[in-house]
Amino acid sequence: MDISVENVTQIWKSRNGSKVTALDQFSHQFKSGQFSCILGPSGCGKSTLAQIVGGIEKATTGTVSIGAADNPAVTSIGGPSVMVWQSQNLFPWRTVIDNVAYGLEMAGVSRAERYERARVLIASVGLKGFESHFPSQLSGGMRQRVALARALILDRPILLMDEPFGALDAQTKIVMQEELLRIFDETHKTVIFVTHSIDEAILLGDEVIVMTARPGRIKEVLPVNLPRPRSVEMIGTPEFGALFDHAFHLIRDEVTKAMAEQNAAAGAKL
Ligand SMILES: Nc1ncnc2c1ncn2[C@@H]1O[C@H](COP(=O)(O)OP(=O)(O)OP(=O)(O)O)[C@@H](O)[C@H]1O
Ligand SMILES: [Mg+2]
Repeated sequence: MDISVENVTQIWKSRNGSKVTALDQFSHQFKSGQFSCILGPSGCGKSTLAQIVGGIEKATTGTVSIGAADNPAVTSIGGPSVMVWQSQNLFPWRTVIDNVAYGLEMAGVSRAERYERARVLIASVGLKGFESHFPSQLSGGMRQRVALARALILDRPILLMDEPFGALDAQTKIVMQEELLRIFDETHKTVIFVTHSIDEAILLGDEVIVMTARPGRIKEVLPVNLPRPRSVEMIGTPEFGALFDHAFHLIRDEVTKAMAEQNAAAGAKL
């Protein structure tokens, strides 16, 4: 499904009445079946954008339209997508299988059918045998896999991922990235993936959208033409290195700007 974001501006109001412009006239066409990564300094509005596209928040101004490429009729925002967050928000009192099957349970799917579908997904994220475990009995990486399976079971055409692997150790992260690449090659969902990692953005994405420091605008869109299927070994290739250098220079300028702005704001308060 295509996602068309046009001139989206988001102004948050804090409790004390001050306003923060998180996104400023953000426009981008996310193409159906494409993996788009969003890279930008802390506070530039990446999570805000994911929440607006997912229909969790309404933009102050601007529009988000979602529709199939061959049928651009606008569907309801939020309906076609599912979100995976950095913190997994699993239900601690539910077992792995009941966490994964939760969405189907809410949709009224019978126990036998939802368990059958949940078992297939649990196996596909490498957790066969852990169906009856509780989240507290799993490692952080395993919990993140459960969160991924819980999102995938809904089989929505759009997957929104907000730093889903940000809290994982380096080895688990690699395994999860390869897992996600495999799932993407099989399902070709439209993916919007927020990350702080330049490597991760290039490894996973068909394009990397580099954002400016707040207020978040698009600084540059880098197409990533590395062939698929991708693997972590590609990080060592010259093509990957050239993309990394380019993204690194863009992002370094913006992070420096963001830090200077934060220091100035802190100085003003003293
Ligand atoms: N619900 C909210 N209410 C008020 N302000 C908010 C809200 N959500 C975000 N903000 C503000 O909007 C700006 C952008 O926040 P956002 O969480 O989108 O940034 P981000 O790019 O995801 O940052 P990070 O990389 O640190 O996760 C920040 O200044 C933040 O304080
Ligand atoms: Mg964020």
